[in-house]
Amino acid sequence: MMSTLKLAERMNRLGTEGAFEVLAMAKEMERSGIDVVHLEIGEPDFDTPRNIVDAAVNALNRGETHYSPAQGILELREAIADYLNSRYGSSVKPSEVVVFPGGKTAIMASLMAIVDEGDEVIYPNPGYPAYESIINFLGARAVPLPLKEERGFSFKPEDLEALITPKTKAVIINTPQNPTGGIIRKEDMEKLIELAEKHGFYIISDEIYDRILYDPEKFTSVMEFPEMRDKIILLNGFSKTYAMTGWRLGYTVTNEELAKALTKLAINIHSCVATFVQWAGVEALRGPQDAVDAMVAEFRRRRDYLLERISRIPGIRCHKPEGAFYLFINIQDLGISSDEFAKLMLKEYGVALLSGTAFGKYGEGFIRISYATSMENLKKAMDRLERAIQERRWEK
Ligand SMILES: Cc1ncc(COP(=O)(O)O)c(C=O)c1O
Repeated sequence: MMSTLKLAERMNRLGTEGAFEVLAMAKEMERSGIDVVHLEIGEPDFDTPRNIVDAAVNALNRGETHYSPAQGILELREAIADYLNSRYGSSVKPSEVVVFPGGKTAIMASLMAIVDEGDEVIYPNPGYPAYESIINFLGARAVPLPLKEERGFSFKPEDLEALITPKTKAVIINTPQNPTGGIIRKEDMEKLIELAEKHGFYIISDEIYDRILYDPEKFTSVMEFPEMRDKIILLNGFSKTYAMTGWRLGYTVTNEELAKALTKLAINIHSCVATFVQWAGVEALRGPQDAVDAMVAEFRRRRDYLLERISRIPGIRCHKPEGAFYLFINIQDLGISSDEFAKLMLKEYGVALLSGTAFGKYGEGFIRISYATSMENLKKAMDRLERAIQERRWEK
C-alpha cells in the first residue's frame, strides 16, 4: 500500500547498487526455469575459514553477547593496529581505530563526519557506487575523477589537480579497485598526498581489497605516508579478505579527534558491532593466514583463465587486474552500449554481469564480471560470451 505521506527529500538523492538489481532480475529468470550464471555479485564464494567461525562460537558460549564499547573492543583495535603496523611500519594506536558493521557503514560515517552541504568530494569513476550516492545524500557535490584504462585504471594526476577547488573537502580513492581490479600507481598516490598537503583536504582510502593482490610489490597504501596521518581516513574490512560478507565487520583508521567523532556517530547509529563478531575479527587477524593465501591463489588461477579466454575473442580486451576479483572488460569495439550488452547477456544468454555504467558515467564501454565463482561457472559464462559476440544479435 502506498502512503500519502512524503518521504524525506534527501531520499531522492540516494542511489542503489546495480549488482543487487541485476541479482533480483536473474533470480526471477531462474524461478521460471532459466539457467543463469552469476557474475554480478562481489562476494567470495568460499566459506569463512573454520578457525574464525569457531572463535565466534566460542565467544557466544563465553557469553560475549552484550554491548561492547562503541569504538570496538580493545583486543580487536589492537589486532588491527598490529596488522597495519607490521605491514607498513606505521605507528597506528588502538585509539585511532573505530570498528564498524562493514566497510559500507564506515564509508557513510566517514563522510557524515567531515562533509557539509555544499562541500565538494572527488571520487573515483568508474567506482564503487556507494561513494557517489552518499556524497549526494549528504547534500555535497560529487565530483567524478576519471580512472584511465591506459594507466591500469589509476587516475591522471593532472585530472585530479584540475578538479580541486577551495570547496574540496575530501578525495576518495580505492585500491585495489572495484570495479576495475586496478591499483593506484605509487607516483599517483605520491602526487595525491602532495596535493592534500598543499590544498588541505582529507584522503579517504578504501583498501578493502588490500590482501587480494596479484602483484603485491606494486601496491601502495596510504599508510605508507606517516606524515599525512592527520588527513587520512583508511577504510578496511573483513568481508573480502576472510570471506565474511554476512558478518558485517569493517573499520576506519584516522586521527584521534576524528576517531572520537566517528565513535559518536556509532553511538547514535548502531551502538556497537555484535560483540562475538568482533572476537571473530581478532581471530581472523591473529590466527593462521593460509586460508587467505589459498583464496588468493584460486582467484589468480581464475583471473588467468579468463584473461586467456578473452584474449581469443575478437572485439573485446581486458586490462590485467593487479588485485580484487573483478575483470573490467573493454567492449568499445562491439558497437553496442554497455547497458544494452549487459541486458542482452542476461536475457538471451543467461549470464548476469554488470554494465560499466553501474559504476558511473566513465564506465561506458565496459562490463564488469566478478570471478568470485567456480571455474565451472566461469567456463560456462565464457562459452556464452564467446557465442554472443560471434552471433552479434544487436547488429541484426
Ligand atoms: C570498494 C568497496 N568498498 C567497500 C565495500 C563494502 O564492503 P562491506 O560493507 O561488506 O565491508 C565493498 C563491497 O563490495 C567494495 O567493493
